[in-house]
Amino acid sequence: MAEALERRAFTPEIEARTASIYEKVKAHVPRAEWQLLAPEIDAINRLKREKNAIVLAHNYQTPEIYHGVADIVGDSLALARRAAETDADVIVQAGVHFMAETSKLVCPDKTVLIPDARAGCSLASSITGADVRALRERYPGVPVVTYVNTSADVKAESDICCTSGNALKIVKSLGVPRVIMIPDKYLASFVASQTDIEIITWEGACEVHERFSGDEIREYRDAIDGLTVIAHPECPPDVIEASDFAGSTAEMISYVKDRQPERVLLVTECSMSDNIAAESPGTEFMKPCGLCPHMKRITLSNIRRSLETMTTEVTVDPAVAERARLAVERMLAVR
Ligand code: 13P
Ligand code: SF4
Repeated sequence: MAEALERRAFTPEIEARTASIYEKVKAHVPRAEWQLLAPEIDAINRLKREKNAIVLAHNYQTPEIYHGVADIVGDSLALARRAAETDADVIVQAGVHFMAETSKLVCPDKTVLIPDARAGCSLASSITGADVRALRERYPGVPVVTYVNTSADVKAESDICCTSGNALKIVKSLGVPRVIMIPDKYLASFVASQTDIEIITWEGACEVHERFSGDEIREYRDAIDGLTVIAHPECPPDVIEASDFAGSTAEMISYVKDRQPERVLLVTECSMSDNIAAESPGTEFMKPCGLCPHMKRITLSNIRRSLETMTTEVTVDPAVAERARLAVERMLAVR
């Protein structure tokens, strides 16, 4: 754990209130450690009630966050949709900064908190608003489809956003022969492999998914009988080719729940397997560990502190927000 938890008493009352949560995480959290985590979880759940707050947690958050304090869990698309629908006053984003910005864009009147403002993303930091303007000058009239893993500045220069769960649908919805799709070159190549629409892209990549290789997947297949391999579209094309299915984190989870493979390799961030293992007892999860250091900046202790101190509040310059919101709303309108 990144930072020491301030020691709070693990009382019998807290033990009883958190017993059903422990059932879901016990395969990954030793009993001794639970004595530290349960009081934090209990305190966060009390603070949420006091402040009419909800925790939106991405599928890559650790099991104690995912099962212990999240009100809504999901992929980037689900989190954006659910943020837009909530009637809570406060949203705590257990995820990275671009996700919190997206929540602020769709909920401008709510307080959006990020427990650690340093939680970035290699894709979001690969491109700026000025880069998008330069692309537009180079390819006049070609619409810009921007992955949500970007800053509000970049979204503001875009026609429409997409996530890994709707990228192909968004590109097709534009009804044009050529689009600029930024900044993930691998997501762009995944979309290009499924359509005749010409895709112009950018040199961005996810630092977690780009490390996997087709050779690594084939080694797993050779060694393990009856293995199903599911990859995230942020992986390089040779990894996707070597896999049985590719989709967003929510689509990966649905695949496992619906098909219940005997053995599965989720080619993505480590915590995903831990989070869904309890609900898929018939499936054995292989874990080629890819840890996102940005996602892992979020911890129980900084979620609690965030609610106690109402920091760090995420704000977006109103002039930027207005244009960026349009790109996100156009995406949400495509069903
Ligand atoms: P999704 O959950 O939308 O598939 O995104 C994966 C990811 O890397 C988010 O940072
Ligand atoms: Fe960004 Fe990759 Fe981490 Fe997702 S997993 S937040 S895309 S660095």
